[in-house]
Amino acid sequence: MKKIIVANWKMNPQSLEEAKKLFRKINFSFKKLEVVLCPPFPFLLAFKKAKIKLGAQNCFFEEKGAFTGEVSPLMLKNLGTNYVILGHSERREMGESDELINRKIKTVLKNKLKVILCIGEKEIERKEKKTFFVLKKQLEKDLKNIPFSQLPSILIAYEPVWAIGTKNPCPPEMAKEVLLFLKKIFPKNKILYGGSVNLENAKEYIKVGFDGLLVGSFSLKKEFSLLLKSIENLN
Ligand code: PGA
Repeated sequence: MKKIIVANWKMNPQSLEEAKKLFRKINFSFKKLEVVLCPPFPFLLAFKKAKIKLGAQNCFFEEKGAFTGEVSPLMLKNLGTNYVILGHSERREMGESDELINRKIKTVLKNKLKVILCIGEKEIERKEKKTFFVLKKQLEKDLKNIPFSQLPSILIAYEPVWAIGTKNPCPPEMAKEVLLFLKKIFPKNKILYGGSVNLENAKEYIKVGFDGLLVGSFSLKKEFSLLLKSIENLN
């Protein structure tokens, strides 16, 4: 089974030229990996013809209509996008509720795109030993009324909020506890880890059993291909 490595470029880079430059630095030709490139919306088209998997970082919950500034799943699909990241903590922080995420998931699945659903607890919740409670609540609400048959199209990314963009990754053994918890509920779903993944720790998460990684800032570094290689070379 191929490991999924999601490169979340967030709101980077600032020009199409730079995006193409970054793209050229990535080696996508790995046998045991599926690399999903998630650039900002304006750059998706530039990579439409590249033989890689593309992901969007968000989308709207309606299929069409008068919604100024929004992007529909079908637009993304027509750009060659295969995946959509939903529920990222940076969007939850901006006010996206589980109810909204649930609507988005439904529309994305209806348009036959895969979902990378991010869930994770905040630092205070971890300290108060509420991690599993928080994750369960997020999943219950985010996946409400999603037919069982559609669940395999959802990848779940465990992203502890305190580990994202902090250079404070979740220790792999601690992340493994969450992985086992999630696998018990969703044995058939791919479970990824995200949060300060770098060249040193990437393979450790795969070794404890994660099906892939969601890599943020490190996916913008020139060493990103070395990270990919380190996973490809695992037995
Ligand atoms: P990070 O971001 O790797 O920079 O912590 C993770 C993410 O994009 O969620």
